[in-house]
Amino acid sequence: MADEHEELVTERFAAESLVQSGADDLERAAEAALRPRRLEEFVGQRVVRDQLSLVLDAARNRGKAPDHVLLSGPPGLGKTTLAMIIAAEMGAPLRVTSGPAIQHAGDLAAVLSSLEEGEVLFLDEIHRLARPAEELLYMAMEDFRVDVIVGKGAGASAIPLTLPPFTVVGATTRAGLLPAPLRDRFGFTAHLDFYAADELERVLVRSAGLLGVPLDPAAAAELASRSRGTPRIANRLLRRVRDWAEVRGDGTLSLVAARSALDVYEVDGLGLDRLDRAVLTALCTRFGGGPVGLTTLAVAVGEEPETVETVAEPFLVREGLVGRTPRGRVALPAAWTHLGLEVPHPSGTLFG
Ligand SMILES: Nc1ncnc2c1ncn2[C@@H]1O[C@H](COP(=O)(O)OP(=O)(O)O)[C@@H](O)[C@H]1O
Ligand SMILES: [Mg+2]
Repeated sequence: MADEHEELVTERFAAESLVQSGADDLERAAEAALRPRRLEEFVGQRVVRDQLSLVLDAARNRGKAPDHVLLSGPPGLGKTTLAMIIAAEMGAPLRVTSGPAIQHAGDLAAVLSSLEEGEVLFLDEIHRLARPAEELLYMAMEDFRVDVIVGKGAGASAIPLTLPPFTVVGATTRAGLLPAPLRDRFGFTAHLDFYAADELERVLVRSAGLLGVPLDPAAAAELASRSRGTPRIANRLLRRVRDWAEVRGDGTLSLVAARSALDVYEVDGLGLDRLDRAVLTALCTRFGGGPVGLTTLAVAVGEEPETVETVAEPFLVREGLVGRTPRGRVALPAAWTHLGLEVPHPSGTLFG
């Protein structure tokens, strides 16, 4: 009995994290093995890939470090992967840090002043850099110069230090939050969008190949359509279906295995996760379809507004379940249908 209960708890816990688009430490190791290393292995995002490949080829021909690159888009779509690819394609060393990891301008100055020529500096969550660090960064990006402060108080002096050419690759889920002066320092900005089902199928087939597991085409299609347009989620579902196939099936990742595993983990037909469903439910039932402000909605689902806005909302909007209006978020008819509720009469306040 106790064991059964424990199993239930772990399964429920796993279900909660299964379709969230962020990655935890444990998952990072699993992901590293599946990460494309070169641009030509990177599936989908054709426009971004073409543009980026031009930027990199041109820089290589000139024998120079490429322009600074800004990557934006929801979690799990390949920003970190692309940053690593940029370094690999340039044959350049990669330094990884993030906005929240840099507490003071001095931390950033230390990183900048130790960069090698041509090095790629990956700044994840760049929108969370502290303001003084941000100012230091755009001077460094523009003039390849940083002022190193020596001493303290009245005796302190700034020693200008010239930096070797390097490339900043910034990643953000919220490009709109970057101050214009910082955004303007990026010579190339790429926005990653959700992947189409056929692209996710290719991601899955590639990953299954790397993992050495037999994936039926019908299973690949099923998983692709329930991965929330997100490669990270596709890979995660693939690992769970592999578990199911090995433990309860014959090892083959068949359509039955895929559907059964997705049932166990309560992944719904659209691949929506707990937060997505909570947002939809709150919108439809608590707020009568809205419009409701982001902050109010976030409080209702017990999340930070930023999480609701950057993690849940983009996919709900893109699926036509939620709309953004000047007065707030509204549920669209598909939201009620998806929750199995009756769509309110269109002459009501909402659509009238
Ligand atoms: N275009 C792609 N082709 C193949 N796999 C991808 C692609 N984009 C992302 N992935 C996979 O999804 C995972 C998450 O990608 P990541 O770059 O960490 O996303 P982000 O940094 O945007 O949150 C990676 O481990 C990688 O294996
Ligand atoms: Mg990342």
